[in-house]
Parts: sequence; structure tokens; C-alpha cells
Amino acid sequence: MKAIITTRPLPVDDEESLVEVERSRPVAGGRDLLVRVAAVAINPVDTKVRASVADSDGVILGWDAAGVVEATGPEVTRFQPGDEVYYAGDITRPGSNAEYQLVDERIAARKPASLSFSDAAAYPLVSITAWEALYEGLGIDRLGSDGGKTILIIGGAGGVGSMAIQLARLAGLTVIATASREASRDWVLALGAHHAVDHRQPLPGQLAEIGFPEVDFIANFNNTDSYWEMMAGLIKPFGKIVGIVETAHPVDLGLLKAKSATFSWEFMFTRSKFQTPDMDAQGELLAEVSGLIDGGRIQSIVGERLEGISAVNLRKAHQRAESGALVGKLVLGGWE
Ligand SMILES: NC(=O)c1ccc[n+]([C@@H]2O[C@H](COP(=O)([O-])OP(=O)(O)OC[C@H]3O[C@@H](n4cnc5c(N)ncnc54)[C@H](OP(=O)(O)O)[C@@H]3O)[C@@H](O)[C@H]2O)c1
Repeated sequence: MKAIITTRPLPVDDEESLVEVERSRPVAGGRDLLVRVAAVAINPVDTKVRASVADSDGVILGWDAAGVVEATGPEVTRFQPGDEVYYAGDITRPGSNAEYQLVDERIAARKPASLSFSDAAAYPLVSITAWEALYEGLGIDRLGSDGGKTILIIGGAGGVGSMAIQLARLAGLTVIATASREASRDWVLALGAHHAVDHRQPLPGQLAEIGFPEVDFIANFNNTDSYWEMMAGLIKPFGKIVGIVETAHPVDLGLLKAKSATFSWEFMFTRSKFQTPDMDAQGELLAEVSGLIDGGRIQSIVGERLEGISAVNLRKAHQRAESGALVGKLVLGGWE
């Protein structure tokens, strides 16, 4: 099978940074599905792993895919060959930038029937992250009992923010999303944010101006440490904050004490990495997201597309991701 690998940290304009090779097709064992990959999406994790990889055998990146089940392991009970699935996969295993990939059935779901493979590939990683961040980390009741409470979403037009805005709206929250450019501001408002504020300008004054000097929830999809003090100031007493980006510097947890505020981490690979007993929660939430998409309750989060999964196009996709100019997701469909 074709696979696109990276062997050592190189700038993306170097042709060696991502190269196409032939690999033997993996064989499904246990609870694995062997999936024929039809489309993939790019995430910051791809560029972060590419920047740190040192493996002469090469690493297959890619943690978003949609495709067709080709074969199943002997313990698989939920899928059969021919099923169309979507999933993010597992950071500890080879990724989706290959014609075939193995994925545990517990973290996969049937792809939204109303979407093409390319459109479906945009959703899994950011849906899992946003869902777990909001409905688990922040404990927001998705059935509506938190309706009317306020959430500040930092990094609203990114992949994760694009899903989080929509999931927060479904739960009935008032959504304030940050966006710094005209394109990203328009994007967050079109996805349902009630207000857009600019993260390149001080946020407290902007929030006070729109009538929300404090908020019940903060979902920070950008640097945790650089927003720490500001989040401690903006959160309401007993409020909740979730972060998804590793800290570069220590943060002062004490800043949250007087308000009895909570901070929690979200890492969407925790369940698969540690094979937690509830890892099938991710397959279940992806199945729910499929239903929401097919029911017209979640809008498209695709911002850009490239036709053909190839080393050349993946290098272009990494370049776009590194540029910081993307809104929503960039997807790549079909094999060249
Ligand atoms: N822990 C996890 O499980 C997990 C899962 C997914 C992602 N992540 C991490 O979370 C981060 C976001 O992921 P993503 O997929 O949403 O990324 P993304 O799509 O690349 O995010 C791009 C967005 O970031 C916004 N942004 C840029 N600088 C910002 C700043 N200083 N403050 C606030 N927003 C800023 C940009 O908004 P403007 O264009 O408006 O400036 C842009 O819309 C990445 O670091 C990623 O590695 C972690």
C-alpha cells in the first residue's frame, strides 16, 4: 500500500519532510478494523509530531480519517466489511496518511450518511476534543439545564473551536468566541457564536463592553499559560475552565482558589493511549455527532480542501496549518 511517512524534523518546504513509500498492508487482529482510507484531515498534532519525530523507519502521521471497512479482527462485533466509518485514531499507532489503517472499533463510528468522505474526515478529532472538553471537562449539560449560562471560547475559528461553538449552542449556552481576523470573525458568527471578541486585544474590556465581565465557563483552545491570569480574572466564582494545549511555563493554580474555580485538562488521546475501560465513549459520541450532522444540527466545518492524498498535497496541507491562516478544517480526499 501507499503510505506517506516522515523520518526526521524538517521544514515543510523540504521535499524530504513527507515522502511516499510502499508499505505492507496491515492485518486486522483483536478488535481492530482494517479501513481503506478515502479521506483525511490535517490537525496541529500532525505538524507537532512532524517537528519532533526521529525514527529512521518513518512515522505515518494523520489523526482524522473517513473510509470503508475492508476487514475486521476476530473480536469485532460492531462493524463489518463495507461499512463506511470515520474516526481520529490513536496517537500511539500509525496514522491515516496511508491507503489502509488499523483502528480499534471502540473509537470509530459510522460516518454521517449525508456527507462525502472528505467532508466527514473533518470532524472526528475536533468533535471528540470539543465534546469531551465541554460535556465532560466543563460538565456542561448537553440536555439544556445549563441553558443561558455563558461560555468564552478562546480560538473560536480553529478546528476545535468550530465544533465547540456548535456544541455549546446545542446545550443552550450564550457563546462568546474569540477571533482576530475578518475571515475568522465571520466564521465564528456564522457557526452560531452570539458575540465575537478579538484575542489580539485585551479581552476583559471587550467582554465588559458586551455585558459579560465574568463568564460561567471558559474553553481555551490556545496557549494555556499565556491566558492563565486573564482566565482567572474572567471566570465567575465556582466557574470552570478547560484547557487543551500543553503549558510551556508553570501556571499559578492558586489564582483560582478564592473563586473556588476548577481547571481541567482535555486530551483526546487519553482514552486510546491508556485503553481506559470507557474508551468506547468516543465511538458513541462520534455516532451521536453523525446523527446531529445528518439531522442538520451541525454545520460544515470544512474551510479548505485539497484533491488527492499525496506527499505533495500533505506538504501543502502542513504548510497551510503552520501558516495560521486556516479557518475551520482542511481536508484531503482520494488517492492520486
Ligand atoms: N488536547 C487535545 O486533545 C487537543 C486536541 C486538538 C487540538 N489540540 C491543540 O489545540 C490547539 C488548537 O487546535 P485546533 O485544531 O483548533 O487548531 P487550529 O485549527 O490550527 O486553530 C487555528 C485558530 O487559532 C486561532 N488563534 C491563533 N492565535 C491565537 C491566539 N493567540 N489566541 C487565540 N486564538 C488564536 C486562530 O484564530 P484567528 O485566525 O482568529 O487569529 C485560528 O482560527 C492546537 O495547539 C492543538 O495542537 C489539543
